[in-house]
Amino acid sequence: MKSRPSEPGAARSGYSAGAIAFHWVIALLIIANIVIALATDDWHGPARSAAMQIHKATGLTILVLSIARIAWRLAHRPPPFPAVIRRWEAVVARTVHWLFYVLMIVLPLSGWLMISAAGQRKPFSWYGLFGLPYLPVQGDKAVGGFAHETHEVLGYAMIALIALHVAAALKHHYFDQTRLLARMWPGRSATSG
Ligand code: HEM
Ligand code: HEM
Repeated sequence: MKSRPSEPGAARSGYSAGAIAFHWVIALLIIANIVIALATDDWHGPARSAAMQIHKATGLTILVLSIARIAWRLAHRPPPFPAVIRRWEAVVARTVHWLFYVLMIVLPLSGWLMISAAGQRKPFSWYGLFGLPYLPVQGDKAVGGFAHETHEVLGYAMIALIALHVAAALKHHYFDQTRLLARMWPGRSATSG
């Protein structure tokens, strides 16, 4: 679908309902998945396995939703930044947004690759409802090691990016009086992609 060109007064417009739904569902799932992985890091046995089952199913759900979101985003232009946002701030914001999209694909992919490369695979299902496929790399130690490293490093990069993104959103909303959060908040009338 072709996006609408920006109109006069569009600086105060917000994201569309579709963009807002994608943003908050995926954001909540990512935050939950990070909490599950880190909070259960020193658990052992069946409890850790159960937690990781949820982590893996949620991670794959995030991957599928992120592919849909990126396809949707490529067809919809986001609303222009409010005028008070400086040019360099807009450049940083857009860069962070695209880095998020990259991580939303590469981070779950690296996790999927990691568990697929194990010699002895553990059960992999969508919350116990149906089995999920593995990638064809079983027993490949080099791939497994690389995917593990990548998953860990990108996991921490994701946490850092979320911290930066939330700090910037709150700063612009409360200190610059731009009401930036309202642009991405559910339940307001939105006019842009
Ligand atoms: C895992 C967590 C999160 C991820 C991955 C994420 C990702 C993104 C992405 C990719 C965009 C850009 C949308 C686009 O134009 O394509 C965005 C925008 C936005 N996000 Fe997040 N976000 C997360 C959490 C949050 C949280 C917790 C807040 C609230 C404090 C927030 C507030 C916003 C706002 C206000 C915008 C719109 C910025 C603007 O007006 O241009 N995000 N987010
Ligand atoms: C966006 C989605 C995901 C996020 C944000 C995420 C985040 C994380 C984080 C922060 C860790 C802890 C890193 C560490 O301290 O070692 C972790 C570990 C792990 N993740 Fe993910 N992950 C995601 C998707 C996936 C997927 C799709 C899978 C597999 C299908 C997966 C499998 C694992 C496994 C097995 C571990 C434990 C590794 C170990 O015990 O050292 N993750 N993940």
